Amino acid sequence: MMDKVLIFVVIGLVPASMAAVTYNYRPDDKEYGPSVWNTKYNVSCAGKRQSPIHIDTTKTVYKNLGALQFTNDDKVPNGPTLQIGNNKHSYRVNLKKDYFSVKGGGLPGTFNVFSFHFHWGKDDTRGSEHTVNMKKYPAELHFVNWNTKYVNISEALKHEDGIAAIGVILEIGNDENPALASFLKYAVNVTYPKELYNIAQTHSIADLMPKNREAFYRYDGSLTTPVCQEVVTWTVFNNTMPITANQLSLLRSLKDNNATLGVALVDTHRPVQPLNNRMVYRTFDKPPVTAGCCLTPTVCLLIIMLGLFAMFN
Ligand SMILES: *[C@@H]1O[C@H](CO)[C@@H](O)[C@H](O)[C@H]1NC(C)=O
Ligand SMILES: *[C@@H]1O[C@H](CO)[C@@H](O)[C@H](O)[C@H]1NC(C)=O
Ligand SMILES: *[C@@H]1O[C@H](CO)[C@@H](O)[C@H](O)[C@H]1NC(C)=O
Ligand SMILES: *[C@@H]1O[C@H](CO)[C@@H](O)[C@H](O)[C@H]1NC(C)=O
Ligand SMILES: *[C@@H]1O[C@H](CO)[C@@H](O)[C@H](O)[C@H]1NC(C)=O
Repeated sequence: MMDKVLIFVVIGLVPASMAAVTYNYRPDDKEYGPSVWNTKYNVSCAGKRQSPIHIDTTKTVYKNLGALQFTNDDKVPNGPTLQIGNNKHSYRVNLKKDYFSVKGGGLPGTFNVFSFHFHWGKDDTRGSEHTVNMKKYPAELHFVNWNTKYVNISEALKHEDGIAAIGVILEIGNDENPALASFLKYAVNVTYPKELYNIAQTHSIADLMPKNREAFYRYDGSLTTPVCQEVVTWTVFNNTMPITANQLSLLRSLKDNNATLGVALVDTHRPVQPLNNRMVYRTFDKPPVTAGCCLTPTVCLLIIMLGLFAMFN
């Protein structure tokens, strides 16, 4: 056990607390598949603020959270700063340490980026973790950022305000996003679980996010992989980003283990979890002011009286 933890710390691709458990996405696996996470990792996977969720836009509540403020997301760091890998669960990119940060937008602090990874489907009918108005999308990109009030991400994972995850829903499009291509092209090198080091970043992270970053959903949730720590402030952008059919096939070509044991790493998405009593906020489509006017009878009466007063004067 110690050895295992140590190895992951040394490799640095995932913090020890995220890596030390075994799981997979095989629906028929009654030992490690998603259907048993809630019982196997029941300390948190069976909690009441789990992710992902289904977003029913009619049940979201408008809230002005202010703008998210990114620092350095539009810059490309110099030198060979990336670690890229197939970690048996996902295609993950570790960015230069603390290369960009995000704050504002109602986030409980300043968060430094740690990594990003993808979730995708076996075919185009599914793959995103969050679903919106009953619609599943073929893939979703998650940025994992940790609260700088803690010393490191391992420590942040122990606190309910420790992580800010940003979800970008990907939708099939014909125009290839060159930034996405630049990060995904190494999939051919990590068909079987493997890590590449010292890869040069060529495109900025802002290019992996929609232009409109003001319109988003916000809710309190968890990591979507065991042990599903309930420490995540979720931001899911309303606007999607395009991914091409070819880029999706790069992701689907990965295997979840070595050549003998591995099967296609597909449908790497956890089923949506109960909302329970949580609110899902949206920062856009502000309800018209007039609709709010007549919500209280007193206000309504006042308006009518003012109207009458105006008419008779
Ligand atoms: C988790 O499951 C184990 C084994 O089934 C059980 O002993 C334990 O009480 C459960 N813990 C929680 C928090 O539900
Ligand atoms: C994170 O910080 C804690 C507390 O200082 C320390 O014990 C731990 O080794 C650190 N972990 C990593 C991965 O640096
Ligand atoms: C990835 O694979 C391609 C094609 O085999 C090869 O040209 C390239 O050098 C590899 N890149 C890395 C970083 O291993
Ligand atoms: C939210 O997303 C929907 C669906 O993609 C789009 O039609 C709408 O314009 C977006 N709203 C904002 C404010 O960006
Ligand atoms: C795959 O992993 C298993 C278990 O660790 C090992 O027995 C087997 O030799 C490996 N196969 C290849 C081709 O590496």
